[in-house]
Amino acid sequence: MRRLLVLVLCAVLTSSGLVSTGTAAAGEQIIGGERASIEANPWAVYLTDDHGAQFCGGTIVAPTKVLTAAHCALGRSPRELRVIAGREDKQDRDSGMSVTPEDIWIHKQYVSADEGEDVAVLTLKKALPYTPLPMAELTDRALYQPGTQLRALGWGRTSENGKTSRYLLQATLPVLPDAYCADSYPQFVKTDMFCAGYEGGKIDTCQGDSGGPIVVEGKLVGVTSWGEGCARKGKPGVYVRISRYAKDLHSVVDALPPGVVDP
Ligand code: ARG
Repeated sequence: MRRLLVLVLCAVLTSSGLVSTGTAAAGEQIIGGERASIEANPWAVYLTDDHGAQFCGGTIVAPTKVLTAAHCALGRSPRELRVIAGREDKQDRDSGMSVTPEDIWIHKQYVSADEGEDVAVLTLKKALPYTPLPMAELTDRALYQPGTQLRALGWGRTSENGKTSRYLLQATLPVLPDAYCADSYPQFVKTDMFCAGYEGGKIDTCQGDSGGPIVVEGKLVGVTSWGEGCARKGKPGVYVRISRYAKDLHSVVDALPPGVVDP
């Protein structure tokens, strides 16, 4: 039932985007984060529906491939999705570009975010002119050591019941020990997920950040996936352990575009 609650909260609150209870206080961003520039993070993108409402994040991992969460893509057709790349300020329509994906791949074993496999890849028809971010590989175990300082990025909510952010935000979140995540969440699967943040809460990702990147040392180590509420004490954010999906993801991300013949 907890699972149901988490998912219902994610899906309903995020996609509605209507629940706007005032403005977040200055300093409450992502939650407890700060502004980030698109120049320094050119691979950071957000997803909107065909009415322009932002509901998730994503990462450019190859010129025509955007990695996001399965729960961001499930039940949507490519034509009702837009990838917004090269734009830091949602209101700056002159910057960057909006692209409709051509295809959506969702991990075959995906059921719900808190059961794992929360990854999807959007394929674009044309290459994006922004630098992609490499994904963590199976051998990158060291990046997931507890205490490693990661950086999460997104345009999601700046407080649990607040509005999503106009600007790209970032927050520094240390990896937490798997045992702590398992205590926080009975359904936590350590092979497929990791959790990051602070035991006391206060700084966290939130609704609308899902699908977006959490990075360290120029690599994508995680995808924002789920959590109970946002920035709550003892309830850290949970992220997809990308290294675990390296093989599955490479088979999709490195696939040659249709029409290109392998010499
Ligand atoms: N599922 C949420 C989304 O769709 C992300 C939740 C992250 N929650 C957290 N407490 N870090 O945007």
